[in-house]
Amino acid sequence: MSFTRDKEFIRKMFDEISPSYDRLNRILSGFQDRRWRKKAVDLLMSEVNDKPRILDLASGTGDLSIELLRLKPSEIYSADISEKMLGICRKKINYPSHKTVVADSSELPFEDNFFDVCAVSFGIRNFTDLNKSLSEILRVLKTGGRFLVTEFFRPLENNLTRRLFMFYFSNVLPFIGNKISGSSYAYDYLSDSVNNFLTVSDFCRITEDIGFTEIKIHKNFLDFVCTISCRKK
Ligand SMILES: C[S@@+](CC[C@H](N)C(=O)[O-])C[C@H]1O[C@@H](n2cnc3c(N)ncnc32)[C@H](O)[C@@H]1O
Repeated sequence: MSFTRDKEFIRKMFDEISPSYDRLNRILSGFQDRRWRKKAVDLLMSEVNDKPRILDLASGTGDLSIELLRLKPSEIYSADISEKMLGICRKKINYPSHKTVVADSSELPFEDNFFDVCAVSFGIRNFTDLNKSLSEILRVLKTGGRFLVTEFFRPLENNLTRRLFMFYFSNVLPFIGNKISGSSYAYDYLSDSVNNFLTVSDFCRITEDIGFTEIKIHKNFLDFVCTISCRKK
């Protein structure tokens, strides 16, 4: 199958794997995925105002939203194109002002300058239209608002560690992932989506061109799993 970021294809794939999504995240990342999200939110702890209004975009089953609750938001929205992923998110979160919204990153159903924080974990490389989605994130953030992205970026270095890791990512991970999820392709797609994504430095360049500032890279695992933090000018 040739690689695609078609929105319907992606939505159906995440609907399909939603029941095993959390379990497989833990297994396939060696229980690191929670630590990566926690570290991302730690970056915001001393930086945001009291009671921020937060958007967790491409929230999936809500694991980042759960971490973001530590910021004691006045309102928090988990937004995603997959209704089934959001269904699991709703069951996991019991917070008075938490809302789930079916929404596409390239057409956010929010007014301008609405959020203090927008965060995306492991979702941005799936966006059908990355530039439009980044412009939408910029639009809905307040001036000075924080934008955080944790993602698997296409690694640059070609050393032994990288080659071993890519072997795991392209062979072992799809085998285990497809077997446990029951999907014939979803975890091949995961590895293809990384190979077809940007390096962290290319991603930062685009983010800057769109209009974000104070862009910083925080490495979690080589230049592969990174969190990018920045601000709306
Ligand atoms: C790998 S999951 C990440 C979920 C969650 N953020 C996490 O950290 O586990 C990617 C999510 O992005 C969502 N997604 C993909 N493209 C999207 C888009 N254009 N707009 C909104 N959500 C999208 C998928 O439905 C899926 O739930």
